Amino acid sequence: MSIANNNILLGITGGIAAYKTPDLVRKLKAQGANVRVVTTSSAAEFVSPLALQAVSGNPVSSDLLDKDAEAAMGHIELAKWADILLIAPTTANFMAKLALGLADDLLSTLCLATTAPIFIAPAMNQQMWRAAATQHNLHTLLSRQITVLGPAAGEQACGDVGLGRMLEPQEIVELLHNKCESPRPLLHGKKVVLTAGPTREEIDPVRYITNHSSGKMGYALAAAAQQLGAKVCLVSGPTQLTAPQGVELINVQSADQMHQAVMANMAHCDIFVACAAVADYRPINKTPQKIKKKENELTLTFVKNPDILSDVAHLPHPPFTVGFAAETQNVRDYALAKLHAKKLNMIAANDVSDSKIGFNSEQNALNVFWSEGEKVLPVTDKHTLARQLMTLVAEQLTE
Ligand code: PMT
Repeated sequence: MSIANNNILLGITGGIAAYKTPDLVRKLKAQGANVRVVTTSSAAEFVSPLALQAVSGNPVSSDLLDKDAEAAMGHIELAKWADILLIAPTTANFMAKLALGLADDLLSTLCLATTAPIFIAPAMNQQMWRAAATQHNLHTLLSRQITVLGPAAGEQACGDVGLGRMLEPQEIVELLHNKCESPRPLLHGKKVVLTAGPTREEIDPVRYITNHSSGKMGYALAAAAQQLGAKVCLVSGPTQLTAPQGVELINVQSADQMHQAVMANMAHCDIFVACAAVADYRPINKTPQKIKKKENELTLTFVKNPDILSDVAHLPHPPFTVGFAAETQNVRDYALAKLHAKKLNMIAANDVSDSKIGFNSEQNALNVFWSEGEKVLPVTDKHTLARQLMTLVAEQLTE
C-alpha cells in the first residue's frame, strides 16, 4: 500500500494543534492521496471547516445525525471508503473514547465501523500525556494494533515543556508513507521471546525479596515487537499490567520459574530480549513457617540464581540475544563488559541512577551497543523507545 491514490479519512479532534491540519491535508494530497475530513464538534473551534473543505476538495463532515451529509455519503459508506483512518490531533479525551469503544459522535462511530488501519497523532499537555489513565489507554490502543505517531517533546501552547506536542504535518506524512510503503512489517514471521518485570524470591510463606521493576518497559517491547509483525511470547514476573492482545503471556514469580519458562520456549525463537529485572540471588532455603521475631539481627544466606540471558546466549543455536544492563555508574563500561561476557548480540544500557527514567517510570533512555556499533536512544516514553529498540534489533537481524 502507498499513500498515493489511497483514500485517507482524516479525523480532527479539538486541540490547539488542529490549526496545523489544513497544511497536513495539503501535504497528504501532494502525495497523491484522496482526503476527506471529519471533525469533532470541538475541533471546529480550532480550525475552520471551510478551510478544510477548500484544501481537501471535499465537504467536511462532523455530525452523525446530519441528514444532508448522510444522504450524500452515509457514515458506514464513509467508513468503508477509507483505506486509512488518520486522527490528528488526537486529544486525551478521544484516546479514552477510542480505548473504551464509544460511538457517541461521527468520528468515534467511524473508528468502530471501519476496517481500515487506524493511525493516531496524540497532542495534549505533557502531564495529561503522562497521566496513568492516558498511558493505560495508550497501552490498550497499541494492543489493538492502532499505530501511534508521536507525540513529540518540546514547549507546549500552555507553556509547559515535555512530551505531548503533535508531530509536524511533514513528519506525520513521512511516517505514514513509511508504514504504507514497507511491503512487510520488519519482524514478519519472527518469533520473539521477552522477559519483563521483577522476580520474587520467597523468604518464608509471607515474605519475599524483589525490586522496583514495573514491567512497563518489557510490556512496551512486547507490543512493539507485535506491531512489527512478530509472534510474541512474554514471560513476566508479577506486575499490574495487562499483556497486549495476541501476545502469549506466561506468568512466573521467581527467577527459577522464569528460567524454566524461557528455556521451554526457545524452540524456533528468532529473538530473545531480556528486560526483566531478575534477582541475582535467592534465599538458599525458603523456611516452611513464618520466621518469628526473636533476635536483634537476622542473617539470611543467599544462593545465585540461574542467569537466564547467559544461558540463552550459550545455547548451541542461540536466537539474536538482547540484554539490558541496569547500572548506576560506569554505564558504558559495564554494559560493554556484559555484552562480551554473556556473548550477546546487543545490549541496552539503562542508567538507573536517574530516578526520572528506568525503574517504574513512564520514560526511559537507552545506550544500545552491538559488536559493530552503538546508538543513543534519548529520553522518551517507553512505548516510543520500545519501537525504536525493536526496529534497531530488526535492522541488525537482517544485516
Ligand atoms: O520494568 P520497568 O519499571 O519498566 O523498568 C525497566 C528496567 C529498568 C527494569 C529495564 O529497562 C532494565 O534495565 N532491565 C534489566 C534489569 C537488570 O536486571 O539488569 P542487570 O544489569 O542486573 O541484568 C543484566 C541482564 O541480564 C538483563 O537483561 C537481565 O534481564 C538479565 N538477567 C540477569 C540476572 C539473571 N539471573 N538472569 C538474567 O537473565
